[in-house]
This record gives sequence, structure tokens and C-alpha cells, in this order.
Amino acid sequence: MTKQYKNYVNGEWKLSQDEIKIYAPASGEELGSVPAMSTDEVDYVYASAKAAFPAWRALSYVERANYIRKAADILQSKAEAIGSVLSKEIAKGLKSSVGEVTRTVEIMEFAAAEGVRTQGEVLEGGSFEAASKRKIAVVRREPVGLVLAISPFNYPVNLAGSKIAPALITGNVVAFKPPTQGSISGLLLAEAFAEAGLPAGVFNTITGRGSVIGDYIVEHKAVDFINFTGSTPVGENIGRLAGMRPIMLELGGKDAAIVLEDADLDLTAKNIVDGAFGYSGQRCTAVKRVLVMDSVADKLAELIVERVSNLTVGLPEDNTDITPLIDTKAADYVEGLILDAKERGATALTDIKREGNTIYPTVFDNVTTDMRLAWEEPFGPVLPIIRVNSAEEAVHIANQSEFGLQSAVFTNDYPLAFKIAEQLEVGTVHINNKTQRGTDNFPFLGAKKSGVNTQGVKYSIEAMTRIKSVVFDIK
Ligand code: NAP
Ligand code: G3H
Repeated sequence: MTKQYKNYVNGEWKLSQDEIKIYAPASGEELGSVPAMSTDEVDYVYASAKAAFPAWRALSYVERANYIRKAADILQSKAEAIGSVLSKEIAKGLKSSVGEVTRTVEIMEFAAAEGVRTQGEVLEGGSFEAASKRKIAVVRREPVGLVLAISPFNYPVNLAGSKIAPALITGNVVAFKPPTQGSISGLLLAEAFAEAGLPAGVFNTITGRGSVIGDYIVEHKAVDFINFTGSTPVGENIGRLAGMRPIMLELGGKDAAIVLEDADLDLTAKNIVDGAFGYSGQRCTAVKRVLVMDSVADKLAELIVERVSNLTVGLPEDNTDITPLIDTKAADYVEGLILDAKERGATALTDIKREGNTIYPTVFDNVTTDMRLAWEEPFGPVLPIIRVNSAEEAVHIANQSEFGLQSAVFTNDYPLAFKIAEQLEVGTVHINNKTQRGTDNFPFLGAKKSGVNTQGVKYSIEAMTRIKSVVFDIK
């Protein structure tokens, strides 16, 4: 029998009556089981967190930072072990999986350091009316209360740590729901917080299928802030259920790499291939379309295909570039996009091949705007090349997307790159580099259907605190 993982609730590890078995996507190996929490158990999680809130928020930043640093040290000591489980659980290359854990350690340390720098301010009344000149406001940041942190399958640990640490440092209490495929890794992250000795109830976990308990955990009146990373439809639903409560949504993307005539095409091809095919394209920030000037498109396509032909396909433990996708539904979806592009006349520059849930890296040239691949997020290893005749056309097509996460611009004309960056309806524009989150102190956000609110350590801290102003008159 494999291990029965437990939830961490009010300082104790707990099983539930029902459980969910977790299998490795690549090998089918049973990795263990996690509890399928009942709604009553969720109520208990939230009640425990609420009870722990007053004492936790009353601690100083330095005291809370010490707990987070301790948890970070513990996590670092387990990075290899957790990375190895993570690699199996979400079929991510072993090296990248360990990297995901150590990157989480760095975020936690950074959050602890950033938190202690949190400051308020004192304002003097303006001159709006004579009386206001005699007013003083003491402006401070307060925790919002109970933060529900929900992470996605592709970064179950890292996109949990990036929510939990900034929430805790500012005095919030946390309920963390990992993705079901990724929940064992999420519970291993929880062990670090438990072993760091946080007071009971300050940090808790909730496991169970989002389709079963998702609405309940979000809608619950005990929750003061929902910090979610995942797909746009689930994010939109959370937005509806949140009502007037503050939220952070980091959602899907269709990031464009815009390539102008003067671009360094070797550098461009390298970044596009790294950006499009890392973790088999299962990254919100993956390059998901290339918009290239027709005059350099043949050469760029050749360089891209050359690099793609060197990508390795296989198993996560072998650190191959392309591994099986997270599940059959995901692989079917990507295959559907590939077949649609083929049927509508796009030029396949690579073999179209699927083995089980492994989709071989696929590049299409001459993709046109009537194809699904031009607009939909594959979350898999397929890259469309769309030819354009001007920078204006590239910007126009880029902005036609319902998504607005990131874009990249490849050119040596920096004034033009900045002009294009200004015109793109996205959260971040990278110049001569692939689209990517980070570094993790930078703001990370999506426009349009890619998100609401801003991540990044300092920005997450700001988002999960509320300004409280105390005003008084001076004589
Ligand atoms: P997902 O299906 O939306 O799931 C994300 C998380 O939400 C999981 O923990 C899931 O739990 C939970 N969930 C499902 N239904 C829910 C509900 N009704 N209420 C509350 N939570 C619910 O997304 P995914 O497949 O894990 O991740 C892939 C997507 O995330 C892609 O679209 C990608 O672009 C996006 N993403 C965006 C960013 C970003 O920063 N912008 C980063 C990473 C990923 P279960 O696993 O139990 O269903
Ligand atoms: O999947 C979405 C992540 O936020 C992307 O992060 O660009 O560091 O891989 P990354």
C-alpha cells in the first residue's frame, strides 16, 4: 500500500473519510493518496484559521519572518526529496522540479526580508478645505485576514510558496489548496511550515477535487482573500463567487513573440524554442505564437526547426525536454489544435506525432487567424508561426487575443521596442528575451483574461494587506 498523505489542520495531520489516489502521469505508478475533504472539514479548517488570526497578526514582522525563514531552511534541506516526488507527480523534468523547490525557498526568504521593510506613513491634511490643514492621518497596512491560496498543477509548490509567504509575513492566516495532481508535493511543502513550528491554525491545507469542493471553499464567508493561479474559466468563476472580496487571479495566456526584420535571429530562435517548449509548453508564460515579419520568416523558421529537432522526448527522470502531458484530456486538446491547423492549411515543419500522452514538439508555419491555434492556449508543445508585414500588424494581432499575460519583442531598435511595448495590452513585455515570470521580485500580472491584481513579492504583500488610516486633528 502506498502512503496516505494527510492534511495539516490546526497544527495536526489529519486523514479524511474519503481519499483520492494520485498516479504518476508518465509511468502510471501509484504515488499515494490524499484526503478528499468534506465540507464539514473545510469549515473546521477555516474556523481554526480564524481563531489563530488575532495572535498571529499581533506578532511583529521580525517574529513572523523568523518562522518563514525557518520554513525556508527546512524546505531547502528537502529540496531533492520533494523535487523527486514533484517530478513524478506532474511529469516535470527532475532538475526543473528540484529547481521549482529551491526557487520557492528563495521567494520565502525574499518575502521574509521584504516584509520587515513594510512601513506605514504619516500624512498631513491637504489644502482642500481650511480645516483639513489641521488633520493628520496615520496610514498603516493591515492583514486582510484569511487568505485562500490555490495553486495550479504546473507549479504546485512554487505558485503556492509565492502566495503563502507574502500572506503570512503580513499577519494573514492561510488555507492552501494544492491542485489534485500536485497535491502530494503541496503537502510536502506544508511539512516545512509545520516543522517550522508556526502556531496552530496559522497555516492549513485543504485537499480535494476542485470540481467537488472548489466552489465551497471559495464562496465560504470565512475567506477574506482568494489568491488563485490556474485556468481562465476557473478564475472567472472565482471572480463571480468572490463578490466584493479582494482577489488575485493569475490565469491563462497566449504570449506572442514579435520578431522584427533587424532581430538577431539566432538569439531569437533560441529564446522562442526555450520559451515555447520548456516543460512541454505547460507554462502560462510559454511563447504560444510567433508573429514574424515575412521578410525574415523563412530564416527564423529554419533556425527554430533546427533547435526543435534537438529537443529530447522521454521521461521526467531523464530530464528530457518533452515529457508526457499532465493527462489524456490535455493531450487530446493539444492534438485537436494540431489537427485543426493541419486541416486548415498550416504548414507542419515537424513530424506530427503522439505516443500516449506525449505530444512530440510541433511547429507550424503559415498559421492564419482563422485557425484555433492562432488564439487558443494549447498548454502543450505546439508553436504556431504567423507571418506579418508590419510591426503594426503584429501589434494588432497580438492585441486581438482575449489574453494579455506577456509578449516578447525581438529587435535591436530599442526605441521601437519600447513603442511597441507601450502598445501591447499585456502585463509584461520582454525585449530580446523569452516571455517568463520573474525574477520573482518583479511585478507579474495579466491584463484582460489573463488575470486580476499583481503578484511579485512586494506586490503580493501590498495586495494581501489593506490600508487602515487613523485620522486626528491637531490644535
Ligand atoms: P485549473 O484547472 O484552473 O486548476 C487550478 C487550481 O484550481 C487547482 O488547484 C484546481 O484544483 C483548482 N480548482 C479547480 N476548480 C476549482 C473551483 N471551482 N474553485 C476553486 N478552485 C478550483 O488550472 P490547471 O490546469 O491546474 O493549470 C493550467 C492553467 O493555469 C493554464 O490555463 C495556465 O495558463 C494557467 N496558469 C497561469 C499562471 C499565471 O501565473 N498566469 C501560472 C500557472 C498556470 P483541482 O486540481 O483539484 O481541480
Ligand atoms: O505557468 C506559469 C508560471 O507563472 C510561469 O512561470 O515563466 O517562471 O515558468 P515561469
